[in-house]
Amino acid sequence: MMSETSTEAVLFALEPHSLFYSLCKKLALNPGFHSFRRFPDNESYLRIEASVKDKHCIILADLSHPDSKCLHLLFLAETLRELGAVSVGLVAPYLCYLRQDKRFVAGEAVTSRIFASLLSQHVDWLVTVDPHLHRYHSLNEVYSIPCRVVHGGSLLATWLATQQNILLVGPDAESEQWVAQVSELSGHPYVIGEKQRLGDREVVVTLPDLDAHQGCSVVIIDDVISSGHTLIQCIEALQKQQFDDVSCAAIHGIFVGEAEERLQERGIRKLVTTNSIPHHTNEMDLSESLVVPISESLDEIDELRKK
Ligand code: R5P
Repeated sequence: MMSETSTEAVLFALEPHSLFYSLCKKLALNPGFHSFRRFPDNESYLRIEASVKDKHCIILADLSHPDSKCLHLLFLAETLRELGAVSVGLVAPYLCYLRQDKRFVAGEAVTSRIFASLLSQHVDWLVTVDPHLHRYHSLNEVYSIPCRVVHGGSLLATWLATQQNILLVGPDAESEQWVAQVSELSGHPYVIGEKQRLGDREVVVTLPDLDAHQGCSVVIIDDVISSGHTLIQCIEALQKQQFDDVSCAAIHGIFVGEAEERLQERGIRKLVTTNSIPHHTNEMDLSESLVVPISESLDEIDELRKK
């Protein structure tokens, strides 16, 4: 919780989010509202409907499908500031634009770097959940504002705790950071596959020989489910080795287009995600894990203002 002398804080949701009221309650934040609509030519209209002068403002925004949300976010952050907010922080349970962390082919935009620089100009601090860090070791390599990261691994491990005879599978080398943590916390063994990405929606997943684990139920662990192709390929590789009881637990479920239907068609038994992105598969609640990093961010701003 924030200290008693702290400045009052107001929470805004960019779009309706299941974490909104639980964060207001757990952190004693005032709920803040704004209206937003599109003009016929798709330009944005925004109006703040709360008093924000001399208050800390926090924006809760899941940044999946970011291109349609980012101007809304910048207009909201800048209007809060113009109306007298003493600070504007961002809680982005899913943080976008991290996967293009390198210029793989001459001429490509390194969007992770550009996006981080843009966001750092408009908000004072950031709290997020398991950002997709691959070649970057920390968000501080690209963000110039204080960033705090929550890890959802313990929620996945708790979800798995009551289950027996489970093999955890990470589809690719990048997933090992999450799978290893969940394995350590839950006590279930794990294996890691190899993924070759041939295109946005074309991947090949190869798994090691799993004979020693025959009879186990499999839970695939990944950070993000986007198009679902990584999971589909992983399920197929498992089915080739006679593993038919396959579920998946992921931190962020974007579920682009028909991703979920395609996964059901392949016979996935259960799909669970955290509520970083609102979806009916959300079975793991992040609100408690967000309390400390948010209050620390607000306290840090208060400390800086006293200097
Ligand atoms: C990539 O390295 C991530 O960890 C996920 O495996 C990937 O983003 C999933 O994407 P998709 O569902 O489109 O295969």
